[in-house]
Parts: sequence; structure tokens; C-alpha cells
Amino acid sequence: HPQLSMTPTSGLTFEGVALNAIADAVGTPCWVMGAGTFKRRLRRMDQAMREAGLDVSLHYAVKANDHLAVLSLVGREGHGADIVSGGELARTQKAGIPAGRVVFSGVGKTDAELEQAIGLDIGQINVESAEELDIISAIASRLGRTARVTLRVNPDVDAKTHAKITTGLAANKFGIPFDDAAALYARAASLPGIEARGFATHIGSQILSTGPYRAAYARVAELVRSVRASGQTVSHVDCGGGLGIAYRAEAEGQPEALAASIRAELGDLGVKLAIEPGRWLAGPSGVLLSTVILRKEYGMQTPFVVTDAAMNDLLRPSMYDAWHGIVPLAPHSPGQPCAPTHVVGPVCESGDSFARDRDLPPLPRGARIAILDAGAYGAVMSSTYNSRPLAAEVLVEDGEWTVIRRRQAMEELWQDETVPAFTGGTM
Ligand code: LLP
Repeated sequence: HPQLSMTPTSGLTFEGVALNAIADAVGTPCWVMGAGTFKRRLRRMDQAMREAGLDVSLHYAVKANDHLAVLSLVGREGHGADIVSGGELARTQKAGIPAGRVVFSGVGKTDAELEQAIGLDIGQINVESAEELDIISAIASRLGRTARVTLRVNPDVDAKTHAKITTGLAANKFGIPFDDAAALYARAASLPGIEARGFATHIGSQILSTGPYRAAYARVAELVRSVRASGQTVSHVDCGGGLGIAYRAEAEGQPEALAASIRAELGDLGVKLAIEPGRWLAGPSGVLLSTVILRKEYGMQTPFVVTDAAMNDLLRPSMYDAWHGIVPLAPHSPGQPCAPTHVVGPVCESGDSFARDRDLPPLPRGARIAILDAGAYGAVMSSTYNSRPLAAEVLVEDGEWTVIRRRQAMEELWQDETVPAFTGGTM
């Protein structure tokens, strides 16, 4: 993590800002997003594609981190967005990403969402079923529009990642079965309100080797060739997202290797390509700051360090048994040995745990920690479970920092609730 460094005087810094200074001012739990890190990663990924000689447009997967400040940066860098809901679409528009650069994925787009997307004339809709294709055709025809679509095919390839984030197996709910895709494409080309322009695939997330990508892209290439052989036109292939990061000791996914896989399998098709990265861009660009509420020791057992961040803030460890690095903000003094520690949140569930048997220096009451690689699927997956207000969010860049979302106030937890009079309540 080149964006993080430990200084003897200010402790852990992120893009040149002392994280303690942020925690002092804003309190914890608090998300810190590094704009410089995000931008550097965005540029590296874009450059990897261009250096491989590929005509690729980059659509940032909004679901990874949908903050307007992040989306606005993506737009200013000239890129587009991959969205999965009307809410995400509205955010991209609020953040100034041109609708023409938006791609809409997802297995269940509602009529209202499709009307919104087709009404805005977004760049592309990735269709996930025969049923959806008919719905889009009907809505586009009614609105007097033409929807540019690709068919998302399920290549039945094992992405070798966590079962909950694998999407390209036949058993998963995503995409059109490979064997049905050619016939459905021919049908798409004949439907009113539809411009069939190609195929899309996305096999999963946190993918660390190129093998699954190569296998999926090879299948898509096979499909493009066979569809073309039967006289259809194919101009676009969307290669999906999924490149993984180094949460622990894994070797991070390399955009250059992804570019090489795309080039090897799809490079000679003469199609316009697209990618939809989320985690690789946002994950290492964010941390979650937290303070130790107390240490709980029972005799010889591994101590519990209870933090003021919990599963309602960062769900990934509870949901996917994900491993996130934990670093104290204070410089480590050499006299303090590390020892196995359980780091847990205060929520009333045993699953509310950030780390088990993690080798950490003593973390007394009041000590602060940074939970690393929390910029993707972190704040976006937060809830207010246990009536815990949503944490504050801060953006840092080049030694500067600013609050980009204030901590939710207690009253905001219930501001949309009413106690009906017919229950006898008054409030
Ligand atoms: N495109 C599509 C169609 C997707 O479904 C996804 C992610 C992406 C792109 C972006 O994938 P990425 O580059 O971020 O891997 N909450 C889970 C991850 C869920 C990913 C869902 N789809 C987690 O925290 O691990």
C-alpha cells in the first residue's frame, strides 16, 4: 500500500494525511477514501488496455463505491459507468457522467428502471434473459426509442472465487445460457426497438488468475464467430469486471495480464471492447478507521478487542469470511510483542467479527486502527442495523482532506417513520 505510510510523529498517514488527525476531527468509525490512489489505479488500468493496443472503454462498476465524489472523478477522467439499478443511474447523472457512457447490467431490471434508462438513451443495456429482451423491446417501442443491447452470456466457467461472488457458472442466476445465446441474438436483431450489438460476460469478482478470464473470453469469441457466420453483425463485446486485489498475501490481479487475456481471445474480432472494473479501482483506495472501545480478556483465552466499527459498517468479513488487513494508527514500539487477537464489533451477533487470531500489537482501550482495502463494497454495503448511524466519509488527496458525507444523525434513523394513530400511539 504505497498510499499508506507509518511516520514516527503522526502515526499512519494516507496520501500524506495523518489518519489520527481525521479521527480527532470527525470521530470514528469513519471511511477514508484516497482520491489520488483511485485516480492512479484508474489511469493504470486504462493505460494497460491502451498499451495492449485495445479499443476498450472503461465503465466503472458503481456498486463498488457509489459516492458522488468517486463518480465525478470517473466522469472527469473521461470514463463511463456500469450500473445495476435506477438509483445508480440517477447517481451517475447527478455526478455528471454522460448517459451515453452508462451500461446497465443486472438480472432484474424493473419496468420503471428500464423506462428511466431508455428515456435517458443510455449507452448500452446488458440483457440477461430472453424474457428481459421482450420487455425492453416493448418499452423502447412504446417510448419511440431504440435500445442498444448486448446479450450477457453465462459461459459456465469457474472463476475460482468465493461462492457468493461467482456469477459465471450455469448454476448461477446470471446471464443467458451459452447454448441459447446465438438463437436469442438472431431474435434480438429482429425485434422492434432493439439494436443488437454484441455480447457481454462477467464471471465473478475477486478473480486472481487469468485462466478463468481466458476461458470465458474464448467462449464469447466462439459465439461471435458463429453468429457472424450466420450473417449477423456483432460490433461490441463487454468483458465485465472482477479483477481481484491483494487483501492478504495474494498477488494482486494485474490489469496488464487482463489486457493480454482480452487481446489474446478477443483482440482480432474487430469489435469495440468494454470493461467494468469495480473492486480493483476502489478497494485499495479506501480504509475504515475505528477506535477500540474495550479489550475483553478471559484468562488464557485469546483476547477480544471490541471496536466501534461493526458488521453494519463493513459487512465483508461477516458475509464472505473476508480477510482485511488491520493496522494500528500509532507507530509500533519495538518492545511490544504481537499476539493473537480477535477483533470484533459491538453488534449482537457472533458473526460481527473483523479478524480472528490476528497477530496484533496490544490494542488498549482508545487505540485506533485502520481496516484496509475497504474502499470497495464497504460503505455501500453499510446498514443501520442495531440503530447504528451510518459512518462519516472523508476524502484525502495530496495532503488535503475533507468530509464528503457527514456522520448520520441519530434523528435521521427514524425521520421517515410514523406511529399510526389507530394503534393508539402518539408521536
Ligand atoms: N460487472 C458486473 C455485471 C458485476 O456484477 C460486477 C460485480 C462488476 C462488474 C464489478 O466487479 P468487480 O470488478 O468489483 O469485481 N460484495 C461483494 C462483491 C460483489 C460483486 C458483484 N458484481 C464483495 O464484497 O466481495
